[in-house]
Amino acid sequence: MTAALLKPPASPPTAAWATVPGTRLRLLEPEDVEAERRFFNGLSLDSRHQRFHVGLRELSPALLTLLTDVDQQRHRAWVVERVDAPVPTFIADARFVSDAADPGRAEFALAVADAWQGRGLGRRLLAHLQADARAQGVHTLFGEVLAENRRMLALMREAGMRLQPHLADGWLVRGTWAAPD
Ligand SMILES: CC(C)(COP(=O)(O)OP(=O)(O)OC[C@H]1O[C@@H](n2cnc3c(N)ncnc32)[C@H](O)[C@@H]1OP(=O)(O)O)[C@@H](O)C(=O)NCCC(=O)NCCS
Repeated sequence: MTAALLKPPASPPTAAWATVPGTRLRLLEPEDVEAERRFFNGLSLDSRHQRFHVGLRELSPALLTLLTDVDQQRHRAWVVERVDAPVPTFIADARFVSDAADPGRAEFALAVADAWQGRGLGRRLLAHLQADARAQGVHTLFGEVLAENRRMLALMREAGMRLQPHLADGWLVRGTWAAPD
């Protein structure tokens, strides 16, 4: 693991984020397990399928643990929450996980609550992940997306990612971004 990956977690909301009214961007915290469960189980079946590539009716306890047991160094997880909600209410989740053998390479994924899609959150989150990955010492960010996911493919292309068919799985496209020097 590089020294950069050992830095303590940063905790912006960024200035750009403040322009999404009523929302706050922050790192996932250990006490957010129930809020994460509500967020992912609240996604439509189609959004969950796009996010996990399988048709999950609901998250298994094991998957919920994988998503919430994060160290915010090798596995960085961000959430967007509503600022006006009485209990933590997430409207988006975006994260990347560095390769244990090569911490400069990380795989990202994101999801936006159905009611909030199409308002620019996905675009902002992808840009945020690119900036955060770079700040954490990650030089290569990649994501695997269903080939039918036109919205995400458009977003990745716009974010400067190189799109290639997955070598082993024909229904997947891999988007790869190399951080500028
Ligand atoms: C993919 C996803 C993250 C995009 O988030 P979003 O907040 O809806 O995206 P944005 O509002 O930022 O839209 C970004 C761009 O997507 C493109 N887009 C939007 N709708 C589209 C559509 N129906 N077809 C093709 N492209 C589309 C546009 O270029 C749009 O830019 P615009 O604002 O100029 O129209 C979101 O739809 C989602 O969570 N989907 C389910 C989970 C998923 O697919 N995750 C990705 C796999 S890891």
